[in-house]
Amino acid sequence: MKYFVRTYGCQMNVADSDEMSRHLRARGFSATDDPDDASIFLVNTCTVRQHAEDRAFSEIGRLRRWKAARPDRKVVVTGCAAERTRDFLERRFPHVDLVAGARSIESFGAIVDGLLAKRPADESLDYAAGAPDGRVASFVTIMRGCNYSCTYCIVPHVRGRERYRPMDEILAEVRERVEEGVRDVTLLGQTVNSYHRDGRAGRNTDFAGLLASVGAVDGVERVRFISPHPFYMTDGVIDAMATVPEVCECLHLPVQSGSDAVLHAMRRNYTRDGYLEIVGKLRQAMPGIVLSTDVIVGFPGETEDDFRQTLSLLKAVGFDWCFVFKYSPRQGTPAAERSSWPERLVEERHAACLDLAERIGLERRRRLVGTIQDVLVEEGGAGRTRGNYKVRVAGGAPAGRTVPVRVTNTDRATLEAEPVDVTAGALSAAG
Ligand code: 5AD
Ligand code: SF4
Repeated sequence: MKYFVRTYGCQMNVADSDEMSRHLRARGFSATDDPDDASIFLVNTCTVRQHAEDRAFSEIGRLRRWKAARPDRKVVVTGCAAERTRDFLERRFPHVDLVAGARSIESFGAIVDGLLAKRPADESLDYAAGAPDGRVASFVTIMRGCNYSCTYCIVPHVRGRERYRPMDEILAEVRERVEEGVRDVTLLGQTVNSYHRDGRAGRNTDFAGLLASVGAVDGVERVRFISPHPFYMTDGVIDAMATVPEVCECLHLPVQSGSDAVLHAMRRNYTRDGYLEIVGKLRQAMPGIVLSTDVIVGFPGETEDDFRQTLSLLKAVGFDWCFVFKYSPRQGTPAAERSSWPERLVEERHAACLDLAERIGLERRRRLVGTIQDVLVEEGGAGRTRGNYKVRVAGGAPAGRTVPVRVTNTDRATLEAEPVDVTAGALSAAG
């Protein structure tokens, strides 16, 4: 009894896939890399942009033959596109056995029992038995949903309002992961830094306290979090990042646009200057912090001047890397009511923005040549710096160990490095 999981989209989906896998393992299934071996095929979908949704739909279409080969097999479709397009999926793909939207992830165990038509399994059999071996890094979901209503975004429609996991439950999961060998924990949520342990949303959250508590768990070496919203990047959170030793000097802080007019039209709840002020505080508290961001180009009404302000913001901040997305209208969102730019113009802005982001990224990486970095080695010998740069260590390195290396080449996104013995007095910079 094997299952195969295909995951589209963001890290939240990766974490949800992990959680659903644990439910399947608790019911006697084991994971396989080969769909031919599987009796359950789970497609965890994304709907944030049309492209992501289309890819999942074509895979689901192709599963008709997989199912026909052995009709007792089950096709399970989950995630954000499942939430948004349930009726369409059920009509269009009759070979799908179960559609479970992103909002039902918390009750996935019971839903699967319904599908398998058998008594609930003993959840206490869970975890350890089927935990993936040798993983040194893991996501831990701390909140779900989003109370924002950015005008381009479908997420609040499909994932609902914010829900927070209790602090003790989060810490228990962190301890469990550590027992499985995890040392690098990434806290996950749609607006992760709005976390409040009492379940109240707000700016003065307990997120800073949570960072300290997770860092204090025995065996946790590194703590990260995605994706924070600039509005909740308070002084308290920045201070916790700077003072809790386990919290890494890196931050993915989506900016979306460098133009106040566009930020306003997106309803992002901060200005260009407000964002730059946060960056200033982060750099002051953690010189050399690794910064990354998301940008949307071609938003309805984005003028040439607005677009240039996005480019100038990328230069002003100097992001280590930047994900550039072409605006994709999502049905039911306010921005989708407005007229879109011609595809050619969006393409041009996308290419120009990517090109600049690449050049800035390369410049940022070059400063790391010759520095000593601690690399936490993953399966296969490559690892990550505290700044979350991927590093290939010459001659390989033992998985699960943190080793000091000297960076030798940064031409590509994956850095190259050689092991070093002594760190005393060596050059160093956050990377
Ligand atoms: N079109 C393009 N990009 C989008 N994103 C979210 N919604 C859309 C959309 N409709 C991007 C944002 C977000 C990232 C996860 O996806 O940049 O930060
Ligand atoms: Fe979407 Fe905005 Fe919520 Fe992020 S903060 S999930 S972009 S609505």
